[in-house]
Amino acid sequence: MFSRRTNWPLEKNPLTCLLEDFKNKNCEVFDLTVSNPTKSNIHYPEEQILQALCNDKNISYDPISFGALSARKAVASDYQKSGLFIDFNHVVLTSSTSEAYSFLFRLLLNPGEHILLPRPSYPLFEFLANLNDVEIDFYPFVYDKEWKIDCDILEGLVKKSTKVIVLVNPNNPTGSFVRPFELEAINRTCKKHNLSLICDEVFSDYGFEEKKSTLRSVSSNKEVLTFVLGGLSKALGLPQMKLSWILTSGPEATVKEALNRLEVIADTYLSVSTPSQNALAQWFDFKKDIQKEIKVRLERNKDILKNIFSDKSQLCQILKADGGWYGVIKVLKDVQEESFVYNLLKEKQVFVHPGYFFDFEDEPYMIVSLLTDPKIFQEGLERVVSYLDLISKV
Ligand SMILES: Cc1ncc(COP(=O)(O)O)c(C=O)c1O
Repeated sequence: MFSRRTNWPLEKNPLTCLLEDFKNKNCEVFDLTVSNPTKSNIHYPEEQILQALCNDKNISYDPISFGALSARKAVASDYQKSGLFIDFNHVVLTSSTSEAYSFLFRLLLNPGEHILLPRPSYPLFEFLANLNDVEIDFYPFVYDKEWKIDCDILEGLVKKSTKVIVLVNPNNPTGSFVRPFELEAINRTCKKHNLSLICDEVFSDYGFEEKKSTLRSVSSNKEVLTFVLGGLSKALGLPQMKLSWILTSGPEATVKEALNRLEVIADTYLSVSTPSQNALAQWFDFKKDIQKEIKVRLERNKDILKNIFSDKSQLCQILKADGGWYGVIKVLKDVQEESFVYNLLKEKQVFVHPGYFFDFEDEPYMIVSLLTDPKIFQEGLERVVSYLDLISKV
């Protein structure tokens, strides 16, 4: 009765079962994975955000395939504030970044053709690829004092059926931004094999410090057909408003052809809600304040992470990140990751994501969200240390 593409193993893993069990029994759990900003005690200008939705225009429906002109102009002018010139005609609105991926996979790939995805990275990619009948090859991020893309391996992975390279800038969860020389190498690969580039920049506003050695955005890439993805879920911490965007750049004729085709895809769904589009320009006025709140949280938790493990270098290594919302902790104990994370939850009621969740090539890792409430973060990490001390003695 059902399609092969939905033939996923649906049984819950023991970690999820244990977590649910604790929650059902109302046991306190120190959940260090909360990355939903609306559930992280972040202060929002709530009244103004809601006020922007009280607009007479919301009662009428004027569908436009790429989204309302006012909203597309608002996206372009927001980029302009950071010195990035974006032609609003090249902005396409979608209801989420996930939807943007689906539109682009549909635009660029036939069933069975390949995309190149980073590893480790965002776990949803595999589902997005599956659902669009697209095959995946992974190119590695390697860690040597910092995360780097192995551009030679990437080039070697390109096959006849490869159509797209996906970059995540900064990558989730490694927090590494793309470097100019990496983009140059990737552009060369794309040109040589006639590939397009999709660059997910949902976290790009959350760089820890301004660095010349990394690229905050590849939205001005003219070398090859390039789609940059961004959205409200991270830029304003408003995932519930369901509004994201695709910025299109590259050789003029190819961009034109891409937009003509994309217009039909977008017109088929018309998925972005009118109230969100009409509110967008006003919401961008709060971006600075909301991002400040989030950045203060990220810095606070980065400090907690650093302090807690400062004299525990024999137990853990915190991997260097340039930005993003996550902390990656390498556990320096000879333990099996899955059982380590399970037992940490069982014994200390601390929930962290295991590295395998993001497809890390080795183990054991713990991935924590820097958006977590700092009190929970502090207590949770102290419990992690006490658990590590305990198993070190055994
Ligand atoms: C790298 C990356 N891209 C996209 C998304 C999802 O964005 P959206 O909520 O706009 O679909 C996430 C969510 O965490 C993410 O980590």
